[in-house]
Amino acid sequence: MLVQFYNVTKVYRNGVKALNDVSLKIDRGEFIFLMGPSGAGKSTFIKMLFREEVPTQGQIFISSRSIVRMKRSEVPHLRRSMGVVFQDFKLLENKTVAENIAFAMKVVGAGNREIAARTSDVINLVGLKGKENSFPGQLSGGEQQRVGIARAIANRPLLLIADEPSGNLDMATADEIMELLYNINRKGTTVVMATHARELVKKGGKRIITLEAGRVVSDMCALEQQ
Ligand SMILES: Nc1ncnc2c1ncn2[C@@H]1O[C@H](COP(=O)(O)OP(=O)(O)OP(=O)(O)O)[C@@H](O)[C@H]1O
Ligand SMILES: [Mg+2]
Repeated sequence: MLVQFYNVTKVYRNGVKALNDVSLKIDRGEFIFLMGPSGAGKSTFIKMLFREEVPTQGQIFISSRSIVRMKRSEVPHLRRSMGVVFQDFKLLENKTVAENIAFAMKVVGAGNREIAARTSDVINLVGLKGKENSFPGQLSGGEQQRVGIARAIANRPLLLIADEPSGNLDMATADEIMELLYNINRKGTTVVMATHARELVKKGGKRIITLEAGRVVSDMCALEQQ
């Protein structure tokens, strides 16, 4: 078991209950779509996973370790086991494709030789060979998201977390990004992805967890939904 939520409730300081008694488990190797209307709590759920937010009540375990009780000094170690992909890419504009990836590895203490080898591997994996020295501003949205994904997997995370990774992309480009995520998942990385894109989810045939007003209202595989 990779992720366990036990009765997790999150009330923000303004009194909004973003998650309401959420309990669920995610196995190693799963691919999970997180769905639900705007404001349902998807991003809040995702932020809980890498401890950007902590629950008001309840427990969260990652690899059987409580990340609620975790000391602040242990958080960087937790985050090193995760890769995060954002809707707006969040690339460093003054760094090249290769430098963006290398930077993510440097901050976790990787050595230069490893960085060079791995950067080249992940650039190939996401289909950006030849773009190593381009700056984000010189790339299309789809290409920038490929860099975002390459950066997220550079440190070989156990868990890849994506909050609407295709939200800013057209349908065809979103399909390509999904293929890439499925590919990464097939190689063993667990993926949790929040999305509004019903068509993508339907095609995917994966487990779908639906939140509404902070509650899990359904949790099933795509086949069961039809
Ligand atoms: N930092 C915050 N402080 C206070 N309230 C917040 C905060 N972040 C989110 N919320 C509120 O919590 C609720 C859930 O928000 P969240 O961002 O998790 O929804 P979401 O499902 O990701 O929505 P969307 O599909 O629009 O991205 C919303 O009512 C939102 O206004
Ligand atoms: Mg959101």
